[in-house]
Amino acid sequence: MPGKILVLGAGGAVGRPLVRALVARGERVRAATRDGRAVEGAEGVAFDHADPATFAPAFEGVDRLHLMLPGGYVAVTQMLLPVVDFAAARGVKTVMQSVFGVDADDTIPYRQVELALERSGAPFVILRPNWFADNFLNYWGHGVLAGEIAVPAGEGASSFIDVRDVAESAAAALTTDRFDGRAFNLTGPAALTYAEAAAILAGALGRPVAYRDIPEAPFVEGLIAAGLPADYAPFLASIFAPVRAGWTAAVAPDVETLTGRAPRSLETWARDAAPAFRTLAAA
Ligand SMILES: NC(=O)c1ccc[n+]([C@@H]2O[C@H](COP(=O)([O-])OP(=O)(O)OC[C@H]3O[C@@H](n4cnc5c(N)ncnc54)[C@H](OP(=O)(O)O)[C@@H]3O)[C@@H](O)[C@H]2O)c1
Repeated sequence: MPGKILVLGAGGAVGRPLVRALVARGERVRAATRDGRAVEGAEGVAFDHADPATFAPAFEGVDRLHLMLPGGYVAVTQMLLPVVDFAAARGVKTVMQSVFGVDADDTIPYRQVELALERSGAPFVILRPNWFADNFLNYWGHGVLAGEIAVPAGEGASSFIDVRDVAESAAAALTTDRFDGRAFNLTGPAALTYAEAAAILAGALGRPVAYRDIPEAPFVEGLIAAGLPADYAPFLASIFAPVRAGWTAAVAPDVETLTGRAPRSLETWARDAAPAFRTLAAA
C-alpha cells in the first residue's frame, strides 16, 4: 500500500483545496498546520518550519510531500532547504510549490531551493504558479470592496491562476510518477492587466472596482499599516517589477498537461468568490 502524503500549509490558500482533492482520490493525507488540527477530513499533524523537532513526527508513514512556504515569510532558503534535505534523506518524493519565473536567475532564493531539490537524488516535481487570482480576495479584498485595487503593477498583464487549479495540478503531480523530474509553469488561461481584472471583478461582484497604479513607497506604507510584516511588505512590492516588465503575462499549457483540463478563468474565479467577498464585507 502506498504511504501517506504530507501536505504543508494545509489550512492555507492552496493547502485546503489540495487536501480536499487528495482525500477525494482516496489518498491517506497528513494535513500539516502549526496546531495540528484536522483539515478537510484529513488527519491533522503539527509542523512548524521554524521547529525541526516537528519534522520527524510529521513524516511518520509518509512517502510523498507537498512542500510550500507560507505567505508572509522572506527567509525562503532558511525555511525550505532543511525540509528538502529531511525529505530526501528518507527517499520521500517532493512536489514543491515554487514561484513563476524564478528559473530566470539561479541566484533567486526560490531557484536555489529548486536546484537543491533537483540535486537531492529523491523524486521531485516543481510547480511554478503565477500570481493567484485569490490575492484579489486574500490580499486586496478590502480594496476591492472599497472600489479600488491600488498596486504598483503599471500596465503589466498577468495570467492569474485560481488556487484550485494549483491544488489540482499538485494533486496530479503527487499521485502519479509520470511527471517526476520535471518543472511546470502554472498559469491561468489569459493575460490580463489589473485594469482588465478590476473590470471582471466589477462585473462578477456587481459593484464598481477600478485599478490605480501607485508607486512602490506608498504601497509599502499601506501594507505595513494594514499589518503586513515590515520585511515582507517591501518584498511584496519588489515582485511587482516583473509584472510591470511584462514577464508575468505568459500563458502556459501546463495546468492542462497535469490535470487534463483547462485552467479556470478569472471570471469563474470571481463568480465563485462572490460569497466570500460578501462574508468579508460583513466582517
Ligand atoms: N500569492 C500568490 O500570488 C503566489 C503566487 C505564486 C507562488 N506563491 C507562493 O505560495 C506560497 C503561499 O502559498 P499559500 O497562499 O497557499 O499559503 P498561505 O495560505 O499563506 O499559508 C499556508 C499556511 O501555512 C501555515 N504556516 C504559517 N507559518 C508557518 C510555519 N512557520 N510553519 C508551518 N506552517 C506555517 C499557516 O497555517 P497555520 O497557522 O494553520 O499553521 C497558513 O495557513 C508562498 O510561498 C508564495 O511564494 C504565491
